[in-house]
Amino acid sequence: MKRPVRIAITGAAGSISHSLLFKIATGEMIGQDQPVILQLIEMPQAMEPLRGIAMELEDCAFPLLHSISLHDNFEEGVVGAHYVLLIGAKPRGPGMERSELIATNAPIFAHQGQAINKLANRDVKVLVVGNPANTNALIASRNAPDLSPAQFTALTRLDHNRTRGIMANHTGANPKDIRRVTVWGNHSSTQFPDLHHATIYGEPALPQIDQDWYRDTFIEKIQKRGSAIIDARGHSSAASAAQAIINHMHDWINGTPENDWVSMGIVSDGSYGIEKGIIYSFPVRCDYGRYQIVQGLEISEFAREKMTLSEQELLTEMETVKDLLPKETGESHRNLSVCLRSGTTLYDDGISLPKKQYLQTDRVR
Ligand SMILES: NC(=O)c1ccc[n+]([C@@H]2O[C@H](COP(=O)([O-])OP(=O)(O)OC[C@H]3O[C@@H](n4cnc5c(N)ncnc54)[C@H](O)[C@@H]3O)[C@@H](O)[C@H]2O)c1
Repeated sequence: MKRPVRIAITGAAGSISHSLLFKIATGEMIGQDQPVILQLIEMPQAMEPLRGIAMELEDCAFPLLHSISLHDNFEEGVVGAHYVLLIGAKPRGPGMERSELIATNAPIFAHQGQAINKLANRDVKVLVVGNPANTNALIASRNAPDLSPAQFTALTRLDHNRTRGIMANHTGANPKDIRRVTVWGNHSSTQFPDLHHATIYGEPALPQIDQDWYRDTFIEKIQKRGSAIIDARGHSSAASAAQAIINHMHDWINGTPENDWVSMGIVSDGSYGIEKGIIYSFPVRCDYGRYQIVQGLEISEFAREKMTLSEQELLTEMETVKDLLPKETGESHRNLSVCLRSGTTLYDDGISLPKKQYLQTDRVR
């Protein structure tokens, strides 16, 4: 049995976590041979419900669950973490503008980035889920000067999974036979679910579906799926978000299948002409705990227009939070370099670890 790894999770008593924690404890996220220590973080007023969830976890007697600790203080909860899942965020209230939501959550993610920088494992992998996820991830990453920007990602895997699931339902194919879909941009209604390179049963997907349906119905359906779920259920997506978090982290840690790729919100290195330094969702392949952007995809005029719209929205969001983006990390986020030898995106700051260190299993400090 391997030594346990530490997973710090904010919003641990919230709806997403209620599905997520039990999946992590059964080994779905990292692997069936990897024990875990759960460091659960909540607001002080949610500590009692969190204690109840910890009791339920204990009652499941999961063999992989080494231990659980509960924290109402982020600094304490993130110590030594190998994986940090930032799920907790203030939800959007009735009539609240997106810009207000950004302004409310931004300082929290700046503070969390600083604490991760100081206290988490140096090899930490961070996934931001709390909305607005891309911009929150940018704020956290820019406030972590001693870590590589590659260690911070935002969740767009739910949008990616929705694209495959809804396509499967429409065509009758099994979701596993729908490959190479891409979600570009922001986790918002400007995201672009792209089927131009997708395949169904190994054959190009677009000729197999009605073009008008794709352009006029499908794209908007994916973009507005989150709101449709809120309208129907009265709450935002929780179980499907938990599944997407599992998929995102699993593939980042264990790699993507040979003949497919996934969508992840990552710091743009300028690929596909997207402004450097913003957190944008790209098609990526993962291997040995690292990811690289899939290069060389042809971008149609139609796709370009949609990709630019989402890029513009992210630039506007970045402008809204500019006071929380320290100048000294601006350079490291704009000047990422591609190491041609390994095909891996490396960063000029030299903080990315050599490949062999990612292969170590004994990761507890
Ligand atoms: N990126 C995505 O695909 C995606 C999908 C679904 C939901 N979301 C977002 O995920 C977030 C959580 O969703 P949920 O349904 O679990 O919400 P929820 O309201 O059920 O739970 C959120 C929990 O976070 C806690 N919390 C708030 N601020 C915190 C902080 N600073 N530190 C620690 N805990 C904190 C709250 O006490 C609450 O228990 C929301 O922002 C939601 O919009 C993102």
